Amino acid sequence: MIDPKTLSARFPGDFLFGVATASFQIEGATKTDGRKASIWDAFSNMPGRVFGRHNGDIACDHYNRMDEDLDLIKSLGVEAYRFSIAWPRIIPEGTGPINEKGLDFYDRLVDGLKARNIKAYATLYHWDLPLALMGDGGWTSRTTAYAFQRYAKTVIARIGDRLDSVATFNEPWCSVWLSHLYGIHAPGERNLDAALHALHHTNLAHGLGVDVVRHHQPNLPVGIVLNAHSIYPGSESAEDMAAAERAFEFHNGVFFGPVFEGKYPDGFMSALGHRMPEIEEADLAIISQKLDWWGLNYYTPMRVSHDATPNADFPATVAAEPVSDIKTDIGWEVYSPALANLVRRLNSQYPLPPCYITENGACYNMGVVDGQVDDQPRLDYIADHLSVTADLIAEGQPIKGYFAWSLMDNFEWAEGYRMRFGIVHVDYNTQVRTVKKSGHWYCELAAQFPRQEI
Ligand code: FCB
Repeated sequence: MIDPKTLSARFPGDFLFGVATASFQIEGATKTDGRKASIWDAFSNMPGRVFGRHNGDIACDHYNRMDEDLDLIKSLGVEAYRFSIAWPRIIPEGTGPINEKGLDFYDRLVDGLKARNIKAYATLYHWDLPLALMGDGGWTSRTTAYAFQRYAKTVIARIGDRLDSVATFNEPWCSVWLSHLYGIHAPGERNLDAALHALHHTNLAHGLGVDVVRHHQPNLPVGIVLNAHSIYPGSESAEDMAAAERAFEFHNGVFFGPVFEGKYPDGFMSALGHRMPEIEEADLAIISQKLDWWGLNYYTPMRVSHDATPNADFPATVAAEPVSDIKTDIGWEVYSPALANLVRRLNSQYPLPPCYITENGACYNMGVVDGQVDDQPRLDYIADHLSVTADLIAEGQPIKGYFAWSLMDNFEWAEGYRMRFGIVHVDYNTQVRTVKKSGHWYCELAAQFPRQEI
């Protein structure tokens, strides 16, 4: 087992350790204090979409247990908490009336963090789009980007003064491709044209959100969280190598390009540009405004081979075999060198600001035995990826912090509650939280870093 003291010595003194969650995955109380339905409420109530037809109605009941959960974060000794804000609590119909009670909740949350000397890293959009916006087409409609801008402005005006950092979007790859092309996440579309529209309107909404922050809280660091994919060819054949490059454009380039270079990738545009929605003249300038930081969510590599099917849509790839036979309980290959390759490639290809690893962690479903949760494989996964992170920092890669996903077990989207990522176990019958072995280890690691009063 990697000793937390030895590992901590490999990080700079100002490196930030945190834990992360997202609103829909933990809050529950989906009908409380004026909240209305999100696309995830609708999706999880449809048969066949989420494992066991689990939904977010109760989740970790965090909405009602916020103070105890903040105490729990404090007890872990971490410096920062990354959480997301539920748009359907703030503007329950997406557009229209603002719900003060929803704002009050996040007001109490940020004050509760300040009172405990924990930094507040907020995310504006972690997938819970107000359901009413689907009446206009959801993210396939350009109007949703402007609705997001108004929502962002409402949040920043109310709590922006007490945030330490804000991200516009969490993993647009998921809310674009996984949700509109692969049909796995809400709203469950499987349509390339819909997905291409969602892509541009999400990128635009990001830019409009950055505008809002710059205008209303110029000193608040703003960024975006991307689940960049570390992509490997299935073989060294020229076809597979070319397939991996196309996949890089499709899975990474369509976000990194517009946001950091003000352009969509060339190969992607030659193949699919004619199916994109209208890109108005100012759009790419809005999307590519300078950011203070970016967040990387990394879990597993992506391996692809060339898809020889005639007329296969770009990027024309199929999944290739994993190289490591170690997998987590959700079936994701464990392969930490992919994290290093990814960070190096992204920093050499794009002019990126400093990076936070905003999510990393592992799914292991062991439960409580005699009051303890022995999740050694999760501990090993986190230690291994932190060790790679320390090496990256030593070679000069600008990585400023690491957030473990997740603070506690929660609603794992299409997998419902059966897949557990927490460093704290949640008993969904009693809502009892039990810090796992990995959580105790992470706490010892964080304790090596002296904290300044904020
Ligand atoms: C990421 C999501 C997060 C969580 C982890 C396991 O894609 O951002 O909400 O579900 O995966």
